[in-house]
Amino acid sequence: MDKKRVAIIGVTGSVGQEFVQSLNNHPWFEVTQIAASERSAGKKYLDAIRDPSGIVAWDVGGEIPEYIKEMTVKRIDELDVSQLDLVFSAVESEAARAIETKMAADVPVVSTSSAYRYEEVVPILIPGINDEQSDLLDVQKKNRNWKGWVAPLPNCTTTGLAITLKPLLEKYGAKKVMMTSMQAISGGGKSGVSAMGITDNILPYIPKEEGKVRIETRKILGKLVDGKIVDADIRVSCTCTRVPVIDGHTESVFVETSQKIDPLMAKETYNQYNLNSSVTGLPSAPAQYYAFHEDPTRPQPRMERTVGDGMTTTIGRVETEELFENGLKYMLFSHNKKMGSAKGAVLLAEMLYKKGKI
Ligand SMILES: NC(=O)c1ccc[n+]([C@@H]2O[C@H](COP(=O)([O-])OP(=O)(O)OC[C@H]3O[C@@H](n4cnc5c(N)ncnc54)[C@H](OP(=O)(O)O)[C@@H]3O)[C@@H](O)[C@H]2O)c1
Repeated sequence: MDKKRVAIIGVTGSVGQEFVQSLNNHPWFEVTQIAASERSAGKKYLDAIRDPSGIVAWDVGGEIPEYIKEMTVKRIDELDVSQLDLVFSAVESEAARAIETKMAADVPVVSTSSAYRYEEVVPILIPGINDEQSDLLDVQKKNRNWKGWVAPLPNCTTTGLAITLKPLLEKYGAKKVMMTSMQAISGGGKSGVSAMGITDNILPYIPKEEGKVRIETRKILGKLVDGKIVDADIRVSCTCTRVPVIDGHTESVFVETSQKIDPLMAKETYNQYNLNSSVTGLPSAPAQYYAFHEDPTRPQPRMERTVGDGMTTTIGRVETEELFENGLKYMLFSHNKKMGSAKGAVLLAEMLYKKGKI
């Protein structure tokens, strides 16, 4: 089988570097072009990710894959889209709008940026959660007269919340949610959080994050009806904080349901979803979509971030919540750069490829 030719744009950033890793030896996709800003353009990849002191600022654990070390980083307008089947976009969000619009005119774009998430004909996709909403990509393509489309992932904080709420919504009618996040430093990008600000500290505010989580959760858990997404009828309140953890977001969640629920019922529900996951068998899918712990010391970022190579969502501290007539509280862990962005985007592309959309 000929591999699909893909470009990574924003390849030098925190998420871009994770794309490089996630696409190393991929059975279906081959990275043939890479691009970033003017700052990196024209440089070999290895030189482009050196910081000003000359040290290679490789954000991902492990080796830099051989295939990319000598590849030249292009400017966006140097990309030859006629030689591409797919673009993975990890561009900084402000710049992403114009860039993704230009790319999608010719080729499908799977994006980690927020640029297109809130448009009516744009689904926010989490593979394994709302795959059916991907049919909206055909509407998008037709309406905009594009050859491609833009398929964005959610914000990395929404990912774990939506993944854990989906079974509770379907089976028990989740109707209200309160969430407090403890988000990793890497979620802010390579220049997002200063060492002076985060060391020995907790930052109680992340600009625009809470609004994104509220809107995205309702859209992802909504239903596609007559070519439009009808948001889920669920109220979401959240407080998003940044903590001195390098990778992986932890979230404390309180959820009120319409029907009675207890920890055992929740465990059985997640186990059932594990057995029926739509992404099982795809190259980037974890063996277990959900990990459910009864050990009250889990989840912990240092223990969970390698589970399923960062693609498993961990749930623990599950208790009946006395504040509600029916409700549950739990903590979750979701890897912001794996399932929450780059590798999740690769899994999304695999799901779309299987559906014949790429
Ligand atoms: N970090 C996460 O955990 C996470 C999770 C989910 C979603 N996201 C989203 O994913 C995107 C990338 O995030 P990040 O954390 O990787 O950011 P980052 O570390 O700041 O990297 C940004 C990337 O965009 C490139 N870029 C900036 N301006 C550009 C322009 N005008 N033209 C072309 N390339 C340009 C940069 O190139 P240079 O190196 O050449 O400047 C770099 O490769 C953002 O939209 C972010 O919101 C991030």
